[in-house]
Amino acid sequence: MDIKIDISDTVIETDRLILRPWKETDVNDLFEYASVEGVGEMAGWKHHESIEASRAILQAFIIEKNVFAIVHKEDNKVIGSLGLHRSWAEYDDEYAHLKVKEIGFVLSKAYWGRGLMPEAVKAVISFCFEKLGLDALTVSHFIFNNQSRRVIEKCGFSFVKKGQYHAKLLQKTFEDMKYILLRQSRVANK
Ligand SMILES: CC(C)(COP(=O)(O)OP(=O)(O)OC[C@H]1O[C@@H](n2cnc3c(N)ncnc32)[C@H](O)[C@@H]1OP(=O)(O)O)[C@@H](O)C(=O)NCCC(=O)NCCS
Repeated sequence: MDIKIDISDTVIETDRLILRPWKETDVNDLFEYASVEGVGEMAGWKHHESIEASRAILQAFIIEKNVFAIVHKEDNKVIGSLGLHRSWAEYDDEYAHLKVKEIGFVLSKAYWGRGLMPEAVKAVISFCFEKLGLDALTVSHFIFNNQSRRVIEKCGFSFVKKGQYHAKLLQKTFEDMKYILLRQSRVANK
């Protein structure tokens, strides 16, 4: 089941990060990491070839109100994004009754390997279950994306099934791996 969300008044703080709504003034930071080839491509979109491309995406983030900017506190800059999107589980008989969102995330290449995305994802999981009242979160990665797989595993998601994802922006279909985290199972494991 899809539910409308609006993160435009939400700020989440972790040890090293602040997750907050995007602002128009973030465009240079967005372009800096999104223009690096091989980052967006692992998540289904082409790297940005112009600042105008970043500006258009940033506008969509602001209008849609469902994507956080990830700010690195120490460097005081935006280094990635984390969004709450429609989930494949809405179309799966077993999970269609649940209030569910699919998370998607990207981090600047310069910051990979420091455990920053697991830190952000864990904070968003708590927000979604405790504040938004979601029943479940899902997440998916392209079959070859081991970096994303590790984040997903470290955040406690369970593998559900393989699927296909057509990345319109890359005009390519990928085999992907789909995972779920149920609020119930998280409570039970506490
Ligand atoms: C996936 C991603 C968000 C991971 O963020 P992160 O903060 O680097 O995550 P972690 O620090 O936990 O590292 C995850 C794994 O990446 C790998 N890794 C670490 N540093 C790396 C580097 N410099 N280069 C390549 N892989 C690296 C390691 O296998 C690590 O797993 P480990 O902790 O078991 O060693 C980041 O790699 C990214 O933005 N990738 C491109 C976009 C993408 O794939 N998005 C997800 C779409 S589903």
